[in-house]
Amino acid sequence: MHNKHSTVSTGAGEKKMSAANARLEQLWRRGREFLGTQTAIMGGAMSWVSERHLVAAISNAGGFGVIACGSMTPALLAAEIEGTQALTQKPFGVNLITMHPQLSELIEVCISHQVSHVVLAGGLPSAGAIAQVKEGGAKLLCFAPTPAFGRKLVRLGADALIIEGAEAGGHIGPVSTSVLAQEILPEIRDVPVFVAGGIGRGEAIVSYLEMGASGVQLGTRFVCATESIAHANFKKAFIKANARDAMPSVQVDPNFPVIPVRAIVNDAARRFTAYQHEVIERFRNGEFDQKAAQLEIEHFWVGALRRAVIDGDVESGSVMAGQSVGMVSSEQPTAAIIADLIDQAVKALAERLPSEAYS
Ligand SMILES: Cc1cc2nc3c(=O)[nH]c(=O)nc-3n(C[C@H](O)[C@H](O)[C@H](O)COP(=O)(O)O)c2cc1C
Repeated sequence: MHNKHSTVSTGAGEKKMSAANARLEQLWRRGREFLGTQTAIMGGAMSWVSERHLVAAISNAGGFGVIACGSMTPALLAAEIEGTQALTQKPFGVNLITMHPQLSELIEVCISHQVSHVVLAGGLPSAGAIAQVKEGGAKLLCFAPTPAFGRKLVRLGADALIIEGAEAGGHIGPVSTSVLAQEILPEIRDVPVFVAGGIGRGEAIVSYLEMGASGVQLGTRFVCATESIAHANFKKAFIKANARDAMPSVQVDPNFPVIPVRAIVNDAARRFTAYQHEVIERFRNGEFDQKAAQLEIEHFWVGALRRAVIDGDVESGSVMAGQSVGMVSSEQPTAAIIADLIDQAVKALAERLPSEAYS
C-alpha cells in the first residue's frame, strides 16, 4: 500500500515537473527564438572576463555568451570572434561600447565574421551605427535606461532591449531592476526585453519572465565559472563577498562627476574617495584647471579592471561585481550554473501549480 502510494505520488511529481518545464518553455520562448538558444539566459559581457572560453562555455551550455569588446582593437576582436567560433557552433553575441573611436570598424568585423547578434552599450547609439549593424544582417540589442529611451531605441531599429538595474556589477544607472522592470516591461511589447542586474537564482528569472520579460542577462553569477579565465584571487573575492560588499563608487563633489561603478569595496575604492578630495584641493589651489582635475580623477581607474581580473591584484584593482555576488559560493562549471538556474526556475513554477491537478 505504502509502495503503491509512493509510486503514484512520484508519477504525480513527475507530471508536475514536466508541466513546470513546459511553462518555462512557454515563458521564455520569445527570448529563445530571438537568441537561437535552448534557454533565454544571456551571459552579460564583462570586460576581460567575457572572452572566448567563458563565452563559448555559456553558449555550449544552452545560454547566450557575449564577447566583451571593451577597448580591443578591430584585429583583437576579430581574433576573439574566431577563437570563440572554434570553441562553439552555437550562437553568441558581441558587445561593443558606442564611444569606442573605431566603432564602425568593430561593427564591420562583426559583420564580416557573421556574428548573429551585436549589443551596443555605453550610451545611445548613433543612427549610423544602428544602420550599419542592421544592414550587415546582425540583430541589434541596446540598453534602455528609461521607458522613453526604450521606445526611441525601438523606433530607431533595435531588435531587442536589455534593461539593467543598479544592482548590477560594473557601470550602473540609478534605478533598481525591480523598478525598471515595472516601468518598461508593461510598456514595451513589440520587441523582446531582457532583464539584467541582481539576478542570482532561477526564482528571480521566473518572476521577470512572468512580468513580461523574454529572457534575462546575468554577469556576476558567471564570473566564478570554471571556464572563466578570471584570476583565482578575483574568484576568491567573489566567493567571500556578501551582497553589501558590492558598492557603487563614491562621488565627493557634483562638479567633478564620477560615473558610478559597482564593485567589491577594497583599498582602491577607499583610496578613491581620499584621492578625489586631494585632486579637488589642488584644483582649488590653482594647480589644476577644472578639465585637468576631472581627467586626473578619471585616470585613477585606468587599467584597474584588468589589474584585478587578469593580474589578480584585488586590492589596487577594480573588483567589479553586482549585489548578486552574495549568491556566488563556489567555482562551478558553466553548465552546472545554468542547470542550477533552470532547476530553481522549474521548482518555483511547479510550486505555483495547483496540487489537485497532479494527484
Ligand atoms: C566584472 C564586470 C565587467 C562588466 N563589463 C561590462 C562591459 O564591458 N560592458 C557591458 O555592457 N556590461 C558590462 N558589465 C555588466 C554585465 O554585462 C551585466 O549586464 C551585469 O553583470 C548584470 O548584472 P549582474 O552583475 O547583477 O548579474 C560588467 C559586469 C561585471 C560584473
